[in-house]
Amino acid sequence: MKEYKIAVIPGDGIGTEVMDEGIKVLNTFAELKGDIKFTYEHFPWGCEYYLKTGKMMDDDGLDKLEKFDSILLGAVGYPTVPDHISLHGLLLKIRQGFNQCVNLRPIKLLPGAPCPLKDKKPEDIDFIVVRENVEGEYSGVGGIRFPDRPEEIAIQTSVFTRKNTEKIMKYAFDLAQKRNKMNKVSSATKSNALNYSMVFWDKLFNEIADNYKDIDTETIHVDAISMFFIQKPQYYDVVVASNLFGDIITDLGAALQGGLGFAASGNLNIDKEFPSMFEPVHGSAPDIVGKGLANPMAMIWTAKMMLDHMLEDPQAEEIVNAITDVLVEGKTLTGDLKGSASTQEVGDAICEKLKARFNK
Ligand code: NAI
Ligand code: MG
Repeated sequence: MKEYKIAVIPGDGIGTEVMDEGIKVLNTFAELKGDIKFTYEHFPWGCEYYLKTGKMMDDDGLDKLEKFDSILLGAVGYPTVPDHISLHGLLLKIRQGFNQCVNLRPIKLLPGAPCPLKDKKPEDIDFIVVRENVEGEYSGVGGIRFPDRPEEIAIQTSVFTRKNTEKIMKYAFDLAQKRNKMNKVSSATKSNALNYSMVFWDKLFNEIADNYKDIDTETIHVDAISMFFIQKPQYYDVVVASNLFGDIITDLGAALQGGLGFAASGNLNIDKEFPSMFEPVHGSAPDIVGKGLANPMAMIWTAKMMLDHMLEDPQAEEIVNAITDVLVEGKTLTGDLKGSASTQEVGDAICEKLKARFNK
């Protein structure tokens, strides 16, 4: 029996509600496999913890998390805590502290999920974004001079290192080979306007591409790629983007795949020197908290991404297939999908479909 230790940070709001369903599906998967076991330790960190203690996570939080195989996070955010505090005090601390240099975002329209584009089908929307996750525009380098005076100045500097940029680009090319779908990597740039950082980005992209002759490449300005995601999503396979650009285009991607209820992500330490962290893209949704209305599908898909990274077991795909079964059946859906089922009922239904798939 192989055991995997998972650090669980449910966070705030619906984070805790969807987390229960993610764990439920993980346990069902382990039971069905028979030879693996997940053990969990819960950490109460987040905004409510901040309101009690003045800290989003413990000072030695990273030391505590380091011994785990993976970190599973729900969502953080609370109406009375400024978002830059919740983001910097927990999420960015873990992403940067554990060098989780890739944020991986599958943009895949599942059969039965609502797509806002007319005439687009699941086979048209199936790509993945590799977003740089520890530096770039979100490096946190800068400052404010002369605060609150008429001459006040704000400076926010982008930082791009050769080491990290090469690493995430290689990851994108390797992923295109592994997917073996269109064998194509598209780079989102803006080197016409950003004449240092993005010219550098393009140069390294071309250098790395030289080592992958079997992979087609293209470089597209980020404004244009936003338009093309809508007009011809079927054209994309793997997209590599900087932190800011990736952040924006993946929310556009979330809309293509049916909304936040389906947007899953992994923050990967690709060398496996530290644990990676997996989290749904949605926030704590204070408007629906406590009512059992949250769609747990993004969380469950996120848990599946954790399995991909930890186990590399192709059978984990059955979890996404089980979500699809529930969608196609259309009987057990949450309110965002025009159903009336609760978060728990959707989690249970996905577990049942997963069992049925294993017992086929
Ligand atoms: P949000 O993602 O929490 O909610 C946006 C809208 O989508 C709301 O109407 C919500 O009800 C709905 N929604 C989100 N997830 C859903 C789900 N699983 N099922 C059904 N409906 C869902 O974003 P919002 O409202 O901008 O932010 C709320 C708080 O969450 C803020 O404090 C924000 O900082 C935080 N946040 C945290 C994130 C994270 O932990 N990674 C990401 C985004 C926001
Ligand atoms: Mg975002």
